[in-house]
Formats: sequence, C-alpha cells, structure tokens
Amino acid sequence: MSPFVDFQGVWLAYNRQLLAQGQYAVEDITLQMDRGEFIAIVGPSGCGKSTFMKLATGLNMPSKGTIRIDGQPVTGPLKISGMAFQAPSLLPWRTTLDNVLLPLEIVEPYRSSFRAKRDEYVAKARRLLASVGLAGYEDKFPWQLSGGMQQRASICRALVHEPKMLLLDEPFGALDAFTREELWCAMRDLQAAQRFNVILVTHDLRESVFLADTVYVMSKGPGRIIVERRIDLPRPRDLEITYTPQFTDIVHELRGHIGAMRKPVARIGGGLPQ
Ligand SMILES: Nc1ncnc2c1ncn2[C@@H]1O[C@H](COP(=O)(O)OP(=O)(O)OP(=O)(O)O)[C@@H](O)[C@H]1O
Ligand SMILES: [Mg+2]
Repeated sequence: MSPFVDFQGVWLAYNRQLLAQGQYAVEDITLQMDRGEFIAIVGPSGCGKSTFMKLATGLNMPSKGTIRIDGQPVTGPLKISGMAFQAPSLLPWRTTLDNVLLPLEIVEPYRSSFRAKRDEYVAKARRLLASVGLAGYEDKFPWQLSGGMQQRASICRALVHEPKMLLLDEPFGALDAFTREELWCAMRDLQAAQRFNVILVTHDLRESVFLADTVYVMSKGPGRIIVERRIDLPRPRDLEITYTPQFTDIVHELRGHIGAMRKPVARIGGGLPQ
C-alpha cells in the first residue's frame, strides 16, 4: 500500500532572496508515513518543525522535492487536516460546544448541511467532548475552563470534522505534568479509536516516546532529519510504561542525539562548563 504521507527530497526556502542565498529552513526531508501512523518530531528551537507542518498541510510549497498526501501531489492548502497549537485559541465569545462545532460551520461537506443536520452535529460534538472528560462543560465559555480543559476542547475542535490527519504543534506544552499525562491518554484513545494520522511536534521526549510509532529528530542549521527511531513498545500503552527501563532507554537515546547537537553555553558569571 502506498504511504499516506510521502516527502521526497523536500527543501524549503521561505522567499526568493533566501533561496538565492541557499538559506533553507528545511533541507532534503525524505520520509514516509503509513496510514494511521502517529509520528513525533523533536529538535531544537528553529530547526524547522513548524516549517515541516506547514509543508505537510500545503500552506507552503517546497522549493525542491515533492510531497504526496493520500496519493495526491500537494498543490495547495489541504482540507483533510485538523490542527491544534500550544495556545488553545478558542473563541472567547463562543461556548465550548459552539467552539467545537466551528469547523462544521466552515468546512465542506458539513457546511452546506449545517442547518439541516445541526442536531446530529451537536450530538457528535457532545460525544467527542464527553470522550475527553468534558461532559457538562458544553455551555461554559473558554474563560470558565482551566487551561487543560481548553486544550481538550481545542483537540475536539481539531477532530470534529473527522480529518484524516491531525497536526499538533506542542499542544500540551503549557500544561502541568499531571494534566499533560492525562491528555496523552486522551489523545492515545482518540487515535486508537479513529486511526487518523498524527504529526506531533514536541520538546518533551517522554511525550514523543509514549505517543508515537516513530520519532524523528531534527537538527538545526541545516534543518534536517538526523534520526528516525521506531518505537516498538506494545500498544495500548499505559502510563506505567513510562517507568520501565525499556522506555527510559529510548528517551535517553533520543536525549543523546539532541545533546550531541547542542553547543556548550557559557555559564553566567564566567567560563564554559568543564
Ligand atoms: N515566514 C518565515 N519567513 C522566513 N523565515 C522563516 C519563516 N518562518 C520560519 N522561518 C525560519 O525558518 C527556520 C525554521 O523555523 P520553524 O518555525 O520551522 O522552527 P521550529 O523548529 O518550529 O522552532 P520552535 O521550536 O521555536 O517553534 C528558522 O530559522 C526561522 O527563522
Ligand atoms: Mg515551531
């Protein structure tokens, strides 16, 4: 079967001037993602993770190379994806339920049937909210929810139109450790049930190993993929797995790749670390 996402030798310079100078934000990205696969991308700030996301949704076109998604060459913004970001970005004047319904009001084929099928869509949004523990909060406004609840609602909004691909750019970064782990489990369960593809950008190596089938490590300057690590831990994965030697060994291994890229930083008060 052909891969769901297929990057072949993809380079991106953000504008003509940068292109003329040979300044690429990402270089020679080749990767394939199977249908239903969950991948994570880790790497230092500025290495090109968000750029990769923009390429994968067709917001930016490659300067060189080709991208095919679901068998089709990417020629413009894709409608088959949903997105969630570090800040939840819910609309403050809409209730939780109305925020989750938003994509159905905008994206076809839902848009043209929104009025006729509103009850069905509301039921669907409520089911999704219940599945992440937000039953009873449908009529609250975003400012009446905790940060973790807002992020759950954002994830529901990103999934309500049943995208084939979900893009998550550090969606759990601003949350405390307990809430973050709860949301890992919510994401794990949603993905296991619906089998959409996920591209997760994160700075948290434990998060990448817990959730992903494959972790890609990117380097900065040049923005390249330097490691592809399959995570063979059995599924379904329970939080207990994060305390096993098998799990921590993989986290250490990835940590080593990232550490090898980092230059020593001068300590405040003088000198380089010994
Ligand atoms: N619109 C743009 N125009 C020009 N250069 C850009 C643009 N967006 C990003 N860049 C550059 O491309 C490189 C990669 O940026 P990108 O945002 O993909 O990094 P990132 O890995 O997502 O970083 P972070 O972890 O801080 O979010 C950086 O050098 C950045 O300055
Ligand atoms: Mg980024």
